[in-house]
Amino acid sequence: MEKEPPLSNESALPKTVLITGASAGIGKAIAHVFARHEFDVILVARREDKLSQVQQEIKQQYGQMAYVITEDLADPAAPQRIYDWCEQQGLQVDALVNNAGYALHTDFLQSDWKTHRDFMQVMTISVTELCYLFAPGMKQRGYGRILNLASLAAFSPQLKGNLYGAAKSFVLDFSQALDLELHPHNVYCSALCPGLTFSEFHDVMGTRGSVSKLPRFMWMTAEEVANEGYDALMEGKPVHVTGLVNQGLSHVMAALPSSVKQFLSKQQKVI
Ligand SMILES: NC(=O)c1ccc[n+]([C@@H]2O[C@H](COP(=O)([O-])OP(=O)(O)OC[C@H]3O[C@@H](n4cnc5c(N)ncnc54)[C@H](OP(=O)(O)O)[C@@H]3O)[C@@H](O)[C@H]2O)c1
Repeated sequence: MEKEPPLSNESALPKTVLITGASAGIGKAIAHVFARHEFDVILVARREDKLSQVQQEIKQQYGQMAYVITEDLADPAAPQRIYDWCEQQGLQVDALVNNAGYALHTDFLQSDWKTHRDFMQVMTISVTELCYLFAPGMKQRGYGRILNLASLAAFSPQLKGNLYGAAKSFVLDFSQALDLELHPHNVYCSALCPGLTFSEFHDVMGTRGSVSKLPRFMWMTAEEVANEGYDALMEGKPVHVTGLVNQGLSHVMAALPSSVKQFLSKQQKVI
């Protein structure tokens, strides 16, 4: 495949991106987009066979270096191990994509505490800690790009007993706060907020049956989300909602008074 020229006018030195949740869906698509823009990639997730497949695709299609780290981000020690591995390999991480994620489909009190603790570890703590570990090097070198996967759910009415909206609201707010601190040092941090996206997400959540009834115009492909996310990050947008439909919905939801949001929450079924 013919290589596209890099879009940015930053240094021509090779750059490396670390992407969590790169074995499937949006993370896998993001790995392809960065590699197309001549980044080497470090792919992180639990399923080694899927990661190896993405690794081969990246090497063959773009001729970029691709590394695999098999880690479960529910393990509180994982972010430090990931950072240490990169240091030991002499890999300088210029871009970080905190994408790994999932949603639970149960009421709060139906799940045991470990289930919630693991969820919060993957969705919030690991995101924050990976930023904490990799951002200082970016700041010191005067270049860095951090993309954190939030969601349209960060703007939506809450679902009964579900931690997903709260976790994504945290990612949205944290990313904006981090961007305020780092942007003057040429380290951009963006929160990417997709709506419904074709991936394994709803299979993992167990809601494929109900969501597949929703109309096609509400859905985006993982590739569309990845392309928009890359462009928004490189443009230095602190927040980007993907697609015109989702952008419209986010504006409407942001303008709703909390009493209306609460009313809507009570009407909702989990999808
Ligand atoms: N799809 C949507 O409709 C949608 C909408 C808004 C936001 N999002 C967000 O977009 C992000 C990507 O989701 P997706 O749609 O691409 O879902 P997906 O296809 O299910 O992919 C999720 C990725 O996260 C990884 N992952 C999950 N738990 C992990 C753990 N404990 N440790 C390490 N990696 C883990 C999975 O890899 P392994 O299973 O191999 O570990 C997989 O690579 C998530 O943050 C999600 O919340 C998705």
